[in-house]
Amino acid sequence: MHEPLWQPFDFGRGDIRAKNRTFMGPMTLATAEPDGLLNDWIVEWYRARAKGGVGSIIGAAAAVHASGFGWPNAMTIHTDEHIEGWKRCVDAAHAEGVLFGTQLYHGGAASHDALLGHQPWCPSAWKRDGFDPAREMTVAEVEVVIEAFADGARRSIEAGCDFVELHGAHGYLLHQFWRRDVNRREDKWGDPTLFATEVIKAVRAAVGVDIPILYRFSIQSDDPNATDEPVTPESLSTYLKALEDAGVDIWDISCWRESRRGYFGTTTLLPEWVRQVSTLPRIVAGNFLDPAGAAEYCESGYAEGIALARGLISDAAWCERAQVGDAYRPYQDSDLHELHAGRDPGI
Ligand SMILES: Cc1cc2nc3c(=O)[nH]c(=O)nc-3n(C[C@H](O)[C@H](O)[C@H](O)COP(=O)(O)O)c2cc1C
Repeated sequence: MHEPLWQPFDFGRGDIRAKNRTFMGPMTLATAEPDGLLNDWIVEWYRARAKGGVGSIIGAAAAVHASGFGWPNAMTIHTDEHIEGWKRCVDAAHAEGVLFGTQLYHGGAASHDALLGHQPWCPSAWKRDGFDPAREMTVAEVEVVIEAFADGARRSIEAGCDFVELHGAHGYLLHQFWRRDVNRREDKWGDPTLFATEVIKAVRAAVGVDIPILYRFSIQSDDPNATDEPVTPESLSTYLKALEDAGVDIWDISCWRESRRGYFGTTTLLPEWVRQVSTLPRIVAGNFLDPAGAAEYCESGYAEGIALARGLISDAAWCERAQVGDAYRPYQDSDLHELHAGRDPGI
């Protein structure tokens, strides 16, 4: 039922192939240990979604460096000690025939002095809504963070991941370097593509030629008052081409509830804009809360993969049920509150 959503997804690198085209989108939870170490609760959270029929799981945004923490009790991957916890999640997914990858992340300006023990870092001095004022990173700090992304990728591979994703969306550090209104640097790092391409190259060197690299990007940040940022079809095209040349294999397009509208003052959807400049597979996230909508979007040729987030909070077996046309438990806002309270509403 609902072809082609349930057809295999080919990652286009190595022999990596998922049984279907559904992805569990990355979801930050506040259920890790204070040092970002994963625990039994998290392993069971992923195991339940793997049992529930999703094809691939993208893990929660995992900070690659202590300067990149964004939230207390979030999962991280900033030391070798963290490998074991991620390995347990990967093993749980693999036991169900499901692929697993980490989402490597640095929050940049989206953080607080109290959480970091210092001012948040950003390409240029900037205050993001809801966070503390960030200061401009030194060149040495930029280089440290690039290295940290490579280390996070290496740890992911040691944990057995099938792929890695870079979190270039939602207004975090990679996105901050791209944004012309945030990155006002006058040195070479002021180039909107350079930081991302250096991170991608470092990650490629760390994971080797057989591991797919996914890149998640968005046009907007997820600030409550965010509007479209100064992106044009031309600047998007330049960015995506540079990233693809640097080694990206798959786009993960995530503009939350805005993913599925026309962009740049037209009715052309964002994945269609992406297709004009890149032939890479596209995963799209955003409001796929009902199976028919997800299937239709995939069938219309707008996406090769669909990332599901809130739907999988509410029903860990959403995919299994959707595939055979059984009733699933629909998402309700109270499920998010349950989750924030450390209870899994989907099992
Ligand atoms: C609780 C929660 C945590 C999230 N954490 C992340 C994250 O760590 N990284 C990320 O790229 N997106 C994150 N997102 C965004 C989702 O991956 C997804 O793009 C967005 O929720 C839209 O999909 P949906 O409509 O199916 O929920 C999160 C969403 C939710 C609801």
